[in-house]
This record gives sequence, structure tokens and C-alpha cells, in this order.
Amino acid sequence: MEAEPMIIAPHNIEQLREEFPLLHQKVNGSPLIYLDNAATTQKPLYVIESITNYYTGYNANIHRGVHHLANLATDAFEKARNKVKRFISASTDSEIIFTSGTTDAINLVAQTFGKSTLQKGDEILLSVMEHHSNIVPWQMVAESTGAKIRVIPITSSGEWDLSALDTLIGERTRIVAVNHVSNALGTINPVKILIDKAHIAGAKVLIDGAQAIAHIPVHVGYLDCDFYCFSGHKMYGPTGTGVLYGKKELLEMMPPYRGGGEMIETVSFENTTFNRLPHKFEAGTPNIEGVIALGAAIEFIEQLGWEWMNEQEELLLQAATEMLHSIEGVKIYGTSKHKVPVVSFLAEGIHPYDLGTLLDKQGIAVRTGHHCTQPLWDWYKISGTLRASFSVYNNLEEIGIFKQALLKAISLLK
Ligand SMILES: Cc1ncc(COP(=O)(O)O)c(C=O)c1O
Repeated sequence: MEAEPMIIAPHNIEQLREEFPLLHQKVNGSPLIYLDNAATTQKPLYVIESITNYYTGYNANIHRGVHHLANLATDAFEKARNKVKRFISASTDSEIIFTSGTTDAINLVAQTFGKSTLQKGDEILLSVMEHHSNIVPWQMVAESTGAKIRVIPITSSGEWDLSALDTLIGERTRIVAVNHVSNALGTINPVKILIDKAHIAGAKVLIDGAQAIAHIPVHVGYLDCDFYCFSGHKMYGPTGTGVLYGKKELLEMMPPYRGGGEMIETVSFENTTFNRLPHKFEAGTPNIEGVIALGAAIEFIEQLGWEWMNEQEELLLQAATEMLHSIEGVKIYGTSKHKVPVVSFLAEGIHPYDLGTLLDKQGIAVRTGHHCTQPLWDWYKISGTLRASFSVYNNLEEIGIFKQALLKAISLLK
């Protein structure tokens, strides 16, 4: 019932691009160059077909049925959970909670673990480079519990200022919530150092892995983080899917998040008892086809292999960085040595929106604006940037065309 195994020669970019039908189109008369992969990646046929297969072959609601189709759907859904477990090296399937995305996963932890454990004067530690999704849920819980938010500063290259950690982590620190990779700067953060320090202080750590999951192998066991969150749509999977990994003992002590079907064991008007993990946190009918397709996205990544993906992405990052450095008046924000292929930049005297619009006229999709990290740009004293973010299906030829398009747009706007 599941999709046929995919056969891709991972060293052949052109064959890989054939897996992504969307890439083969013209935008405003020019071949599309899609450089907005940090916002969402395009989807391979293997993932798209897994959704079609579900709807044409075994669409049924899961877990509660005895009939054939319900069993097929339940089996495929739970197999996807097992693929996620394997992919991030969790200990058991019960530690994998399906959510609608990273935002949903962080809100779940804030509203259950955060709300039930934080007290007045406790501290939640974030960093300057957090996405709004990893700021606002904590502000909401801080407001309702009286906890305080503290913030890890960064250096001018866009890395955590680790020298500040000893004064920021203390006996009042209860939760540390930081991203593994910055969506705005591309920095890969040294999360293991922070996790170990936080644990010594008795704090729990949530890692926002939205931007890491498609670029670096994640091993939650090695990291020893308490929670790890990510979205399916940023790793070649569908929108509306995401994962919360949590250590079993923590998930067990946390109260449920949303009430409804699936998350209960028994219900009466006097009393309700809750289902075991992971179902306790999965109220209502989930995004069944989405989760199955997320499992297909994991297989897609596994087939390409991290080694080749990392080589390819490093090549793109180096080429894009050098290309931008070669253009007079262009400044890159985020110059850490440890980055995923994301480059944020500004061209002197030109509004990012104007430049982004002229790039679009030439078929090039980049993101402009604050990228949901306003506190970060406040720190840099700018209002936002242009961001080009690459994926394994991008190639060096596209970077060459990107350069010509940038030069043309800059000369028109100067
Ligand atoms: C670092 C980071 N965290 C959280 C999110 C939110 O992800 P989603 O909108 O899929 O919930 C994003 C999305 O861009 C992100 O880049």
C-alpha cells in the first residue's frame, strides 16, 4: 500500500531535480530559481505520491476501526511514527507526538509543561535569534505564571555569546528554549554545550529544530535535550505536520494539552481518564495523510544520505557567500563558520522589498523582511534582510544566474 521504493542516484542533481516537478516552470518569463527553502521546501514525487496513494487506496480514520481500510491507515500512520523515532534516534515511539508543526509543538510544551511547573520569579532562557514561534508562547506562559524571560546575547557574527551563559543560567532557570539552527542567519548553534549547562542547573531544555531537521543529522539521545520540535514542510514533507519529541518521563507527568477524542481512555460526566503516550497529546483526527507523507519525506532524506546532502549544501553555501561578497555594497548578516545554506544580506541603500521584487521579476524566489525574528534585527539595528536559502536540488548554475539578476536589480535601484 505504501509508495514504491524510490531509486535516486544521489550524486546526480539533474535526476534529483526531476523528482521535483514544481521546479520546472517559468516565473515572469524566466526559469524559476527557488531560494526560499527555509520557509518551506518543495516536495518530491515520492512524497506527493504517498498522499495520492492514501486517498486512492486506503483512506480511513485511524485507531478506532476494525475494518480493513482502518487497519491499513493505522498501520501506515504508526509506521511513520516509527520512522520519525529512528530518524532522530529517540528511545521509543511513545516519545514522538505528531503536531501541526513546530509552532504547535512549542505551544504544547509551553501550555502543559511550562504552565504546570513555572512559578513566580522562575526564569525562561531564550536567545536573541529566536523565531517568534519560540518567543511568543513563552511570553504567554510567563505572563500567566509570573515567570521572567532572559535572553542569551549574540556576537556580531551571529553566534551565541557563550561567555554570558554563566551569569544567565542559575538556580531560577527552569526552561531553556533555543533554536538548533537560526532561520534568519543560518548559524548552527552549539546546543549540546547549552543543554549540559542547563541540566547542571536543573533546567529543562527545548530545542526548536525547525531549521536543523533538513540539514543536519539530529540525535536526541546524544543531545540529551528534553524536547525537540520540527515541522514536516521544511524537510520535503507536507504542511500541517510536525513533531514534538519529549523524554518519556516528562511527557508522562505533563497534563494533556487539548481535550477530545483519541486522547482519552474513559469518559463520564464525572471523570475522564487519559490515554497512554503518545495518544494523550493527539486529540481528534490527526493529519493522517500528512503524517504518512512525512514518513515518506524521511525515507527520501535517508536515501539521499547526509554525507552527500551536506557536501552539496556546503558547496552551495560557499558559492553563494563568495558571490555575495563579490558584489560591492552587499553585506551578509550571519558569518559563523558553522552554517546551513542560508544567506541573509542587504544591498547598501536599497530596501530589501524592492530588491526582492526585482528578483521575482527575473524568476528568483527569495524572502524579504524580518523572517519572524524581529528582536534579532533590533539587535542589528536594521528592520530585516533578503534571505536566500538553498536546498539539495539547487545548483551552482542557479547561483550564477542569481548573481546576474542581483547586479541588474541593484543597478536599476541605485
Ligand atoms: C527556527 C524556526 N522556528 C519555528 C518556526 C515555525 O515553524 P512552523 O511555521 O512550521 O510552525 C520556523 C519557521 O520558519 C523557524 O524557522
